[in-house]
Amino acid sequence: MKANLHIAVLFGGDSAEREVSLRSGQAVANGLTEAGFKVTLIDTKDYCLSDLAKADVDHVFIALHGRGGEDGSVQGALEYMNISYTGSGVLGSALAMDKIRSKQVMQSAEIPTAAFEIVHKDSFNSAQSETILRKLGNKVMVKPAHEGSSIGMSVAESATELTHSLETAFQYDDEVLVEAWISGPEYTVAILGNNALPAIHMETPNTFYDYQAKYQSSTTLYHCPSGLSDDDEKVLSNIALKAFKSTGAKDWGRVDVMRDDKNQWQVLEVNTVPGMTETSLVPKAAKVYGLSFVELVTNIVELSIENKGK
Ligand SMILES: Nc1ncnc2c1ncn2[C@@H]1O[C@H](COP(=O)(O)OP(=O)(O)OP(=O)(O)O)[C@@H](O)[C@H]1O
Ligand SMILES: [Mg+2]
Repeated sequence: MKANLHIAVLFGGDSAEREVSLRSGQAVANGLTEAGFKVTLIDTKDYCLSDLAKADVDHVFIALHGRGGEDGSVQGALEYMNISYTGSGVLGSALAMDKIRSKQVMQSAEIPTAAFEIVHKDSFNSAQSETILRKLGNKVMVKPAHEGSSIGMSVAESATELTHSLETAFQYDDEVLVEAWISGPEYTVAILGNNALPAIHMETPNTFYDYQAKYQSSTTLYHCPSGLSDDDEKVLSNIALKAFKSTGAKDWGRVDVMRDDKNQWQVLEVNTVPGMTETSLVPKAAKVYGLSFVELVTNIVELSIENKGK
């Protein structure tokens, strides 16, 4: 099958996560080439996607992070052109990318996720900051509703700080999520097919796992195996799988989870196109699970071909 299959890897694009996607796409393309597929890398920034319909391509690997590529838009365009692609479909992609609506879905499915308030750019007035802080416990995380890689996020511990954090987040999004602060350790669980891979425990000296800690720091520590007891690992895997499925995501992805001061798990978010450089989190977990990078990318392609249209 491999020798005949021509895969276009979509990468780059024009989202705020372009730089990360350029690295993911290149790594995926290298892995697929090594696996024996015929591969073409396409930077969607300067590409008219409808040209794909005329290109001699059998399948698409989506290595785009953030808006446009991870939010259902590209998925919808590919569906329309009847071109098969990796990962989640339109609904799963759109819902997982929306931090507010995915938390609402998780709450209704009784998946633990921290308390939050929604703030809209058009109607925000700084008097709200005090009330929000009081409701959420005086320390909060502010997040644009549709970004990734910690872009536009900051911590606030006073009304003045919260107003400032919201103004920063409004530069990225008209809708912003203010979430109660979670003090505990942080984990991430990669999903492949119906399996949760071994959890990774991340540790950073920064206030939180921010852009610098994710992509530029040498002081971020990654522990996989996570050091959790078998029972805790099992509970975490189940929560992650449940959160993943609740958003309609499929085939592969990553669920970010933290533990609060009462030792309760709190799901942060579901990622449907997580980072895929050779040192990214999903490949790290796959390695401990027994899959090389080449096997991982092959698996993702095979899952999407098996599950086409499901
Ligand atoms: N409520 C919270 N309390 C404390 N820290 C938080 C909270 N929410 C998020 N964080 C920190 O911010 C980081 C980024 O948060 P989150 O995963 O929600 O955003 P993201 O930018 O979409 O991430 P990704 O790069 O995984 O797409 C987390 O990894 C965690 O370190
Ligand atoms: Mg995250």
